[in-house]
Amino acid sequence: MKFFIDTANLEDIIKAYKVGVLAGVTTNPSLVAKEGVKFEDRIAEICQAVPRVESVSAEVTPDAITAEEMIAQADELIKINGGDQKVTIKLPMTLAGLEACRYLSDKRVKTNVTLIFTVNQALLAARAGATYVSPFLGRLDDISEDGVQLVSKVAELFRVHQFDTQIIAASVRHPDHVTRVAMAGAHIATIPYTVIEQIAKHPLTDQGIAKFIADWEKVPQI
Ligand code: E4P
Repeated sequence: MKFFIDTANLEDIIKAYKVGVLAGVTTNPSLVAKEGVKFEDRIAEICQAVPRVESVSAEVTPDAITAEEMIAQADELIKINGGDQKVTIKLPMTLAGLEACRYLSDKRVKTNVTLIFTVNQALLAARAGATYVSPFLGRLDDISEDGVQLVSKVAELFRVHQFDTQIIAASVRHPDHVTRVAMAGAHIATIPYTVIEQIAKHPLTDQGIAKFIADWEKVPQI
């Protein structure tokens, strides 16, 4: 399973990229709104900051309702950073979003169909040629449903029908989600920087380092 970072915060993206485990970035209107920056400018900055990732998701704005409106926005977004191939058009899971997805996939533009909450939605998005689908597990957990089980079922479906579409486990809230979606067959987990920090840490690792430091002071220095 690969890691994407789920943020529009440039500092966090740069910190995660430096670690060397980042394969992509996902943003959404809420994440961009937190930053107080112009959307297209931030997508361009992200693309420049992470040259060696496979995907930077830029979501069509919520006021784009029809497929034509979404495609018109996508036409502008794919020009960002000199036509950067990483730019992935994130589309809502609606009939219009699927129509735009089919159109863009046929033009070989990368797509990410977002706000997936059922297996059938994932199946439709895959059939519409989506490069990625984003099931939101945390938001399902929030309403007492099992988000990881959705990821597991979608992974099985894609295996059985041999879809190339990759599953991005989204709305990941804590380390246990990361482990469980990896085991469930997600191709990617998109996670906030705080969760990257959490999964790298363990108290016994910290204690071990502290002990090595203390013991090393006892070693005679030549
Ligand atoms: C993914 O693409 C979404 O941006 C994100 O994971 C949503 O997470 P949330 O449910 O924590 O807002």
